[in-house]
Amino acid sequence: MGVFANDDPGSSGHEQVVFCQDKQTGLRAIIAIYSTALGPALGGTRFYPYASEAEALADVLDLSRGMAYKNALAGLDLGGGKAVIWGDPDRLKSEALLRAYGRFVESLRGRYYTACDVGTYVADMDVIARETRFVTGRSVEHGGAGDSSVLTAWGVFQGMRAAAEHVWGSPTLAGRTVGVAGLGKVGRHLTGHLIDDGARVVATDVNPRACEWARQTYPQVELVPDASALIAADIDVYAPCALGGALNDDTVPALRAKVVAGAANNQLAHPGIEKLLAERGILYAPDYVVNAGGVIQVADEIDGFNFERAKLRATRIYDTTREILQLADAEGVPPAVAADRLAERRMADVGRLRTILLP
Ligand SMILES: NC(=O)c1ccc[n+]([C@@H]2O[C@H](COP(=O)([O-])OP(=O)(O)OC[C@H]3O[C@@H](n4cnc5c(N)ncnc54)[C@H](O)[C@@H]3O)[C@@H](O)[C@H]2O)c1
Repeated sequence: MGVFANDDPGSSGHEQVVFCQDKQTGLRAIIAIYSTALGPALGGTRFYPYASEAEALADVLDLSRGMAYKNALAGLDLGGGKAVIWGDPDRLKSEALLRAYGRFVESLRGRYYTACDVGTYVADMDVIARETRFVTGRSVEHGGAGDSSVLTAWGVFQGMRAAAEHVWGSPTLAGRTVGVAGLGKVGRHLTGHLIDDGARVVATDVNPRACEWARQTYPQVELVPDASALIAADIDVYAPCALGGALNDDTVPALRAKVVAGAANNQLAHPGIEKLLAERGILYAPDYVVNAGGVIQVADEIDGFNFERAKLRATRIYDTTREILQLADAEGVPPAVAADRLAERRMADVGRLRTILLP
């Protein structure tokens, strides 16, 4: 089946969707370019055992659109794209498959840059790079930025400061209680920033090793058994840093926090949850705005990685979040809607400049 088989042509709004196949290695990949209005499309490659091609396609269309919005609000000169490799990475991943995929990326001649996502790692990017120039998220030995969770956490912290200022008048978490759900790569760095800022942290993780890390590193962190306990706890800020869908019809009514700002992608379980949050007087700092530090970090590699430059850009997530919250108030819409509007405005206003001919 093809992308337009069951829909009106062009209804997904994507510029280009490419189906790639290499039977010998078992590669089946879909590269989706949502927009190149601001520059080459950047987004990671997800290697995942989808149940069907339709499921893989739906995911890549959704994720690539999300990247266009994220990259636009991160202030990058990059459009939005994403790729999926359909299959079980444990069984299928090989040098030849990754290199075959790299050749398909190269065939787009720079319209799409790839990077890591679920199921792909820095070492895989180094293999893909043997066939294409258009790959970021590489190892430090190859000029890469290394672990992107460092600036993701820094950016989430900046977005959270802006949200705190909007609600309580001061851009600090000092004296506030923050609930961190998920003490993985991002959650750990975020916990450090919060404690340095003077916040009290309550946290949870399903992995006992992550909880043990907290006990050893920050004995002052209060651990609760699960995310439901965290949501019901007396917290000021809720920071989902585990999986998507953290904000849903069950969790939002139970939430005691006044602010939600966290790293997890796709925190709103379905459209309409942003309204439910607004009705309950909970300020939601949109996930794709505050978690853009990771993409900022890997995007910086394209010009030769410079940590300080990338950190400065991730620090600006504070300003962007502030602007979105002010726009939301001014236009009487939830912050998620205001963020979308701002991203669309940048894509339209800056993207239009390409119509000025440069002979
Ligand atoms: N790493 C990045 O640069 C980056 C960038 C943007 C967005 N994100 C998103 O942020 C989130 C965290 O990323 P990460 O890199 O820290 O991932 P990670 O896998 O290192 O950490 C996730 C942690 O969440 C825990 N967890 C899973 N289910 C849970 C549950 N139900 N309750 C409590 N804890 C649970 C896991 O045990 C793990 O410790 C993900 O949603 C990711 O997509 C990450």
